[in-house]
Amino acid sequence: MQLDQLKSLAKSIGDRRILDLFDADSNRAESFSTSSGDLLFDYSKTQINDDIRSALIQLCDHAKLADRRTAMFAGQKINETEGRAVLHTALRNLDGGPVEVDGQDVMPDVLETLQRMRVFAEEVRGGAIKGAGGSFTDVVNIGIGGSDLGPVMATHALAPYHDGPKLHYVSNVDGAHIADTLRMLDPTRTLIVVASKTFTTIETMTNARTARAWMVDGGGDPSQQFAAVSSAVDKTAAFGIPEERVFGFADWVGGRYSVWGPVGLPVMIAVGSNAFDAFLRGGQAMDLHFRSAKWVENMPVMLALVGVWHRQVLGYASRAVLPYDQRLLRLPAYFQQLEMESNGKSVAMDGSTLAMPSGPVVWGEPGTNGQHAFYQLIHQGTDVIPCEFMVAANGHEPELAHHHRLLLANCLAQSEALMQGRSLDEARVRMVDKGLTGEELERQARHRVFSGDRPSTTLIYPQLTPYVLGQIIALYEHRVFVEGVLLGINSFDQWGVELGKELATSLGPIVDGEVGTEGKDGSTAGLVEYALRHRG
Ligand code: F6P
Repeated sequence: MQLDQLKSLAKSIGDRRILDLFDADSNRAESFSTSSGDLLFDYSKTQINDDIRSALIQLCDHAKLADRRTAMFAGQKINETEGRAVLHTALRNLDGGPVEVDGQDVMPDVLETLQRMRVFAEEVRGGAIKGAGGSFTDVVNIGIGGSDLGPVMATHALAPYHDGPKLHYVSNVDGAHIADTLRMLDPTRTLIVVASKTFTTIETMTNARTARAWMVDGGGDPSQQFAAVSSAVDKTAAFGIPEERVFGFADWVGGRYSVWGPVGLPVMIAVGSNAFDAFLRGGQAMDLHFRSAKWVENMPVMLALVGVWHRQVLGYASRAVLPYDQRLLRLPAYFQQLEMESNGKSVAMDGSTLAMPSGPVVWGEPGTNGQHAFYQLIHQGTDVIPCEFMVAANGHEPELAHHHRLLLANCLAQSEALMQGRSLDEARVRMVDKGLTGEELERQARHRVFSGDRPSTTLIYPQLTPYVLGQIIALYEHRVFVEGVLLGINSFDQWGVELGKELATSLGPIVDGEVGTEGKDGSTAGLVEYALRHRG
């Protein structure tokens, strides 16, 4: 990525404030926004002006973004380190044409599995498929990472549409997670969905075995009450899950991109197959937009370019995702995996060392809660943290419309406050109003200064429907793709998680006390010895 021009444009900003850009251009909000369907993405509260935007857009051509995009949708093996295509988009290609991998159209399989999911989900919801004790009251999804975060996020997001059995998610190998979940459930009326792309993940397989034992002990029937979601169907059979309850997917669906297919099965059971279809259609609508809109009007591209401007050009280390939408409470965690597992890399596709910062730290919480927790630092801390606000024009509770007005007002107030700030003179006036004078006035006033000029973007949508959720998730997936292309990295592998897994395996017998700590560093050995000494 050629950042020289952008770095000199950044230098030339000098003391120009974002507000000055609004003063100079009454049309700025419109010119520095882009829409896709009903979604509006406003990035006008940043330092990006025409020159900066043009330079950012040039990066796309320089990185041959259009060719990479074509390659992805065409099923080429752009995940080069694993030799795989990247085709999660095929899972939502409901009305699209054929999609080929190695000369083979994958759509018949995708649509056939989707249809099997629909039938299974509706039969679970309707009670035709039941457990030893009757129709299912509860579904427990056992999975981790991409086999957990997407469905958890979507289940919360689509709560107003949830009319199926209760849903629970167990991810952590900490026995507390499964114990606390199963304690309240009836083993004869609970469906367990084991979700694991590889069907080898130690956390998931440990939890799945514990759930099976719980079910057998409680009079349930695992042969009727287990389903599996995986791309390793040989391993699901070995676990004893009947073939008709296994929903497979191909290796060209990355874990963190998998909510659109069988990994979304619990969501489909919760909200029904029609609502799930609407979610897929939302994702597909964003795909069509991403494939056809020119760069400046292309929402994922502009979202990515704003990200590059803040991270790779200006060097801001993190970005906050701040949905003013309580039902998006797990969206920041979902984006953490999507963005950090995809673009948290320091080696370029060709094996060279990345000559610029990798993707940023992504974090956040729903507003307004975050306002009463960490916004202090966002407003007055020494680091600039670009904020990505999200908010709906409407809630789902018409009887509580006054809540939604407050929510919206708070969201808009925060981005306004970040940009406007409060000068020392303005702070002094407030202190004078409070009756302060002299040195005390000066001292107190300084604590009440907000530098302002802190960048934010806002994504606004009509209401958090399944269709809109699909658009938002696909928007961020493509944003990650674009940022990865501009960085020249492979966004679709995750070698960085392997070393810890390997060491955890080798530490197993050591924490059991079967093998000594010889060869371990002093800290690890000391911690093991402490754990063994205090073992009850
Ligand atoms: O350890 C990381 C990871 O491989 C993620 O990429 C993936 O989403 C998660 O583990 C779970 O993997 P699986 O679905 O194969 O159990």
